[in-house]
Amino acid sequence: MSYRAYIQHCIAPDCGAEFDLDARLFVCSRCGGLLDIERREKIDSAPLRDLWLQRRASLDPRDRSGVWRFREFLPFPEDTEVVSLCEGNTPLYDAPRSADYCRLPQLKLKHQGCNPTGSFKDTGMTVGVTQARKLGARLVVCASTGNTAASLAAYAARADLLCAIIVPSGHVSHAKLAQALDYGAKVFEVDGNFDTCMDQIRELAEDESVYLVNSINPFRIEGQKTVAFELAEQLDWRVPDHLVVPGGNLGNSSAFGKGFRELFESGLIERQPRITVVQAEGAAPFARFFSDYQQERFIKEEHPETLASAIKIGAPVSWPKAARAVQETGGSVITVTEQEIADAKAIIGRDGIGCEPASATTVAGIRKLKINENESVVAILTGHVLKDTDYVIKYHNGSLVAPYDQRLSSTFANIPIRIQSVKSVADLLR
Ligand code: F0G
Repeated sequence: MSYRAYIQHCIAPDCGAEFDLDARLFVCSRCGGLLDIERREKIDSAPLRDLWLQRRASLDPRDRSGVWRFREFLPFPEDTEVVSLCEGNTPLYDAPRSADYCRLPQLKLKHQGCNPTGSFKDTGMTVGVTQARKLGARLVVCASTGNTAASLAAYAARADLLCAIIVPSGHVSHAKLAQALDYGAKVFEVDGNFDTCMDQIRELAEDESVYLVNSINPFRIEGQKTVAFELAEQLDWRVPDHLVVPGGNLGNSSAFGKGFRELFESGLIERQPRITVVQAEGAAPFARFFSDYQQERFIKEEHPETLASAIKIGAPVSWPKAARAVQETGGSVITVTEQEIADAKAIIGRDGIGCEPASATTVAGIRKLKINENESVVAILTGHVLKDTDYVIKYHNGSLVAPYDQRLSSTFANIPIRIQSVKSVADLLR
């Protein structure tokens, strides 16, 4: 299959412009619409399942990556030198306590927090930064609520590229900021929220030598779509009935939609899972768009509010792609409260897994969805529990305060106990 079989294609129904793969674009230069990478040749998928499995035993760095192992579906020539940190290959866990909490017999959690920088962003970043280097970019940039920043900073360092990051001042967890600084990125803090940062970064990316690696960039989505491939493989190519993901800027849900569609069209799976996107109640413009069918245009949330800072986003750039994913798969978009997120997060912890607050929207959402006992469900955990330890400590010591001064209950609190000597420990645990 030749790499020339790929193009960039504007998804706006009344445009559909096509561009060469190496045109340095982030949105359609004709209408401003979102771009998809599209393959124009049919692929012979018959040998692929075996080939991909064999690569698991290979020492080729591309085969060690859970993204590049599926490179037949990525828009790069075979001899591309990839920028990789051995991303992907994340576990799919059975989570019995979380299942119980959701009143289901079984629930599986795919932990994207087990990526090199602790979030799902790495699967997209390896591809985005590989394309940046291929295009000869000097500087890679992104706006971020923290995880994209940490991930881009790491991959830029590996690629020896300059990296600039714009974050909303005071609204990024310390752990994420610490990562970006340690990996050597220049971090710029602005007053405002993520949406303000996104507006500013687009301006910066107008310069030819600058490459924007937010999820509006279709190469990021190409990398993230391979998680659908890895998940299908882990389930022996029998996809779940439901796939549940958190929704912020909506790149991840878009990527799962594209990944499962491509697998289905290639005959690698027999059906697609229903994709459900879960948003925090205070930052839920996509859920509102879906609940109101009369709504003809997407109305952004001017003042998004949630303690799940990763998804505190009011103007998600990829909403048309995510809407397509939800509609094509018969999925849904729902919201959960701050209390529901906090409690679900504690339960995921009790399964010995843990995650950051944004990821816990999934389990909180599954608890509210009407799912039959015989249906299978996979939730995507997007970030590691250590990404936001302030939140964890405050939850357990009863001091977690949600927006608008709403004090949250620490339903499943686990408080450190001060002791004088270990002699009292056995008594306490009796
Ligand atoms: N979960 C986590 C942990 C995230 O960091 C993000 C997004 C999401 C979920 C939402 O994913 O945007 O693809 O819908 N974080 C971005 C960032 C915005 O800058 O790190 P999405």
